[in-house]
Amino acid sequence: MDHFLYRNGSLHAEDVPVSEIAAAVGAPFYLYSTATLLRHFQLFDDALEPMPHLVCYAMKAASNQAILKTLGDAGAGMDVVSGGEYLRAKAAGVAGEKIVFSGVGKTRDEVRLALTGGIRQFNVESEPEMRVISEVAVSLGVDAPITIRVNPDVDAKTHAKIATGKSENKFGIPISRAREVYAEAAKLPGLKVIGIDVHIGSQLTELAPFEAAYLKVAELTEILRADGHDITRLDLGGGLGIPYTRSNEAPPLPTDYGALIQRTVGHLGCEIEIEPGRLIAGNAGILVSRVIYVKEGEDRRFLILDAAMNDLIRPAMYDAYHDIIPVQEPAAATEPATYDIVGPVCESGDTFAKGREMPPVGEGDLVAFRSAGAYGAVMSSEYNTRPLIPEVMVHGDQFAVIRPRPTFDEIINRDTLPAWL
Ligand code: LLP
Repeated sequence: MDHFLYRNGSLHAEDVPVSEIAAAVGAPFYLYSTATLLRHFQLFDDALEPMPHLVCYAMKAASNQAILKTLGDAGAGMDVVSGGEYLRAKAAGVAGEKIVFSGVGKTRDEVRLALTGGIRQFNVESEPEMRVISEVAVSLGVDAPITIRVNPDVDAKTHAKIATGKSENKFGIPISRAREVYAEAAKLPGLKVIGIDVHIGSQLTELAPFEAAYLKVAELTEILRADGHDITRLDLGGGLGIPYTRSNEAPPLPTDYGALIQRTVGHLGCEIEIEPGRLIAGNAGILVSRVIYVKEGEDRRFLILDAAMNDLIRPAMYDAYHDIIPVQEPAAATEPATYDIVGPVCESGDTFAKGREMPPVGEGDLVAFRSAGAYGAVMSSEYNTRPLIPEVMVHGDQFAVIRPRPTFDEIINRDTLPAWL
């Protein structure tokens, strides 16, 4: 459930008409609902209630500081994957002790940054990385808390570009080698081994792959404990999917997921961490865009929008489906029209949907892409010298711009010409 609903004939974000925000900010823009963000965080927090736990929001999904502060103030920790994300989480007021550092190639500088500023744990991805963390910790005279990310060789049954738990993926160490890697970790100075980490992919729409992975983690916990390691924390990653289409998709709910966690690893007495990104931010954000032209092609009709692939790359990159609805509510009996919905960028890949049925819209009308809150704004670029679009947040009957649209001068003046020109 989200808080983007038609009321009095027009789409509202919580209590604010989307058209009113468009009039103030100009299209296109991203729009987030505070109540939806909080609701989704709360669902996870409640689902893990029977166990000691921390929900660490995977901020790669949507990293505006207003989003981080909303969730941080509600008690969320953060999962970061770069020095930049670490600093952003800190800037939004999240304590280092609530930040976990994931990511396949942490550099010495990033490790130093986190050890100096405070960190809950590093999720180690490889043996060379583990040695670097040890070295940097020793040089600073501190102990780095670590888990090791194991790759359980489980098929997450999701899009190939976002599956991470098979042995051919670059993530983690093979679970079959976990004992020897943990043995090395225990011997390295400056490391404090505290647990195990696993993350098998994103947009999972079934529980079975999670179950397979978590059962393997439970078994490994017992083995590592028998080897003498003090395993007190399990980071079970993120990945729970969301419904992108309104009708036929019903991914498992956070409560089902929480019950699964309890059933598979609850008996171990570990503190549980999870790293959801998409389920918290995805349906908490929409992308609002205006129809520039309706163009009649030979055998199709194109809806040309002012948003493009540089603003929302997911359809071009993952063939992702996003519901696109008019901001003005269509009359109940309206016959749908069929469109190819595209942006103005000079590539055929700049196509949001082909042969999409939706209520008819015309030039100047506003449309909203649903479920665009996660991996939307964060993956946008200035391709075609198109300014990054603003981000706006609503809270009840208030709204605020949380990232303004840059001016063309700001963009152009970032370039510097070399002395010889
Ligand atoms: N933890 C780790 C280690 C991850 O790599 C990810 C996502 C998450 C947590 C959060 O997963 P989530 O709960 O959001 O599924 N850009 C793609 C998704 C990439 C996901 C990358 N890792 C998309 O637009 O679908």
